[in-house]
Amino acid sequence: MRLPLPSTMSLRIDILSVVPELLSPLNHSIMKRAQEKQVVEIHIHDIRDFGIGNYRQVDDYPYGGGGGMVLKPEPLAAWLDKLIAERTYDEIIYLTPDGKTLNQKMANGLSLKSNLILICGHYKGIDQRIRDKYVTLDISIGDYVLSGGEQAAVVLTDSIVRILPGAIGDEMSALSDSFQDNLLAPPVYTKPEVWEGLKVPDVLLSGNHKTIDAWRLDQALEITRKKRPDLLGDE
Ligand code: 6GU
Repeated sequence: MRLPLPSTMSLRIDILSVVPELLSPLNHSIMKRAQEKQVVEIHIHDIRDFGIGNYRQVDDYPYGGGGGMVLKPEPLAAWLDKLIAERTYDEIIYLTPDGKTLNQKMANGLSLKSNLILICGHYKGIDQRIRDKYVTLDISIGDYVLSGGEQAAVVLTDSIVRILPGAIGDEMSALSDSFQDNLLAPPVYTKPEVWEGLKVPDVLLSGNHKTIDAWRLDQALEITRKKRPDLLGDE
């Protein structure tokens, strides 16, 4: 599948969090380089900046009782109103276990947008009224529970940014990822040619790119059939 994103386009992602330190993986490696190359702008905002009172309170006990704390609506609304006044957002995304499970197709779609807001919940989540008034899309990263939305926001952001043209040195490389064609990736090898008596498959040394592509497709099909037949729709 070809990704139709023109390289002149650029994406801005605003992330709201009460623990912005947990978003630090976005300042390393490929995510760091993508920002330096201006393939993406990532703006991290501390919800506590609009916390209430001398203690900059951002959470409180849930009405009706029960454990955990809930993020108050006012600090989130203050950030959202400020950002919305500055530009038009394509989606306001809340990271939550009850959201739609992230997959490659969703990441591809979001990579075509211009402006995204990601809201990271913490504790028991965010006040429902913020979800009702602002949130346009709920996303989960799988059927398990994390302590906060930050790790999920890192995962979502990485999945979106890495496929933007220019994010990865070899632009073809993101296209050959697992899942990009609903296929798992074929095996890869590097030097040395023989390691502990184990040889790299001859076809990869042949220099014949047609044969190599055919071998890789064949391997991808076989591995997908073996490990994830559901992806081929013939489970
Ligand atoms: Cl988006 N948030 C939290 N807290 N837990 C999760 C998740 C999100 N996705 C899977 N588990």
